[in-house]
Amino acid sequence: MPLKDYLRVSQLTPKDLTRLLDLSSRLKRHPHDRGDLLRDEVVCLYFAKPSTRTRVSFTVAVARLGGHPEMLGANDLQLGRGETIEDTARVISRYAKAFVIRTFADGDVERFAAAASIPVVNALTDGHHPCQALADVLTMRERFGALAGLRAAYLGDGNNVAHSLMEAGALAGMHVVVGTPKKHEPDPDVVQGAQAIAERTGGSVMVTNDAKEAAAGAHVLYTDVWLSMGDDPATKQARTRALKPFQVNGKLMAVADPDAVFMHCLPAHRGDEVTAEVMDGPASLVFDQAENRLCTEQAVLVALLKGKLKGAG
Ligand code: CP
Ligand code: NVA
Repeated sequence: MPLKDYLRVSQLTPKDLTRLLDLSSRLKRHPHDRGDLLRDEVVCLYFAKPSTRTRVSFTVAVARLGGHPEMLGANDLQLGRGETIEDTARVISRYAKAFVIRTFADGDVERFAAAASIPVVNALTDGHHPCQALADVLTMRERFGALAGLRAAYLGDGNNVAHSLMEAGALAGMHVVVGTPKKHEPDPDVVQGAQAIAERTGGSVMVTNDAKEAAAGAHVLYTDVWLSMGDDPATKQARTRALKPFQVNGKLMAVADPDAVFMHCLPAHRGDEVTAEVMDGPASLVFDQAENRLCTEQAVLVALLKGKLKGAG
């Protein structure tokens, strides 16, 4: 049975990842190549959290595949009034060709996917951001030619973006180091899972509490916001204090590889997780990364609808 849903990166095999990236590159060159795939059909885009990139790029991706994107907010469905996730998933499966969902708990998305007969795509949960990671590794592949052996350092909060980056890096045979304070380390289960994948691909995944150690010799310095949409805003001050030593700035870039690039999933907060000098400097790939959200999402929809992904089982 081919992979039905894309909920986290570790559902893919290394071959699936390569296939998705190759398809993304093709669709980037020929955006309307699969313009008939969703002709006169609908893909639902459900967003219970704000979004600029994911929301707009998925809208365009569906349009480029010939379909109609139906945008749904948290208060638009009866879900907000107590209809169960399972009933909602079963009903929507009778109308739409796919369901793209951004929400809080990963468990809710898993329940939706289990009850739905159509492909379900995770557009960000508290635990994972698998669509982001595809754009990230495509951007790295475009810049460096190949992914295997590349060293990426993620600095800051061990959050959803860090989780998906670890899994994608591991699948691609990269060396991923997360530099983060003890209190903000990524989920140990996700780290162990990514390490197990990396053992098979020749990559590695590590966590350190020393920003310089993480950044030393890295080809990519990556960061994300210190307060995520699923985090309690009351923790902002404490987070800022704890995460300050992990800010990506000129000093940290100086210990990385001389050709190192800077990456950020965006939105960015200049002066917090990254300085303006780095964010707007010549090493920054952030807008290429944002651009690559579109073709990678198109590729995910094509691959799932066509049953092209094997899945890690
Ligand atoms: N990177 C990302 O997912 O951005 P949005 O929250 O704007 O979609
Ligand atoms: N970690 C961030 C990513 C935003 C794209 C969040 O979840 O808010």
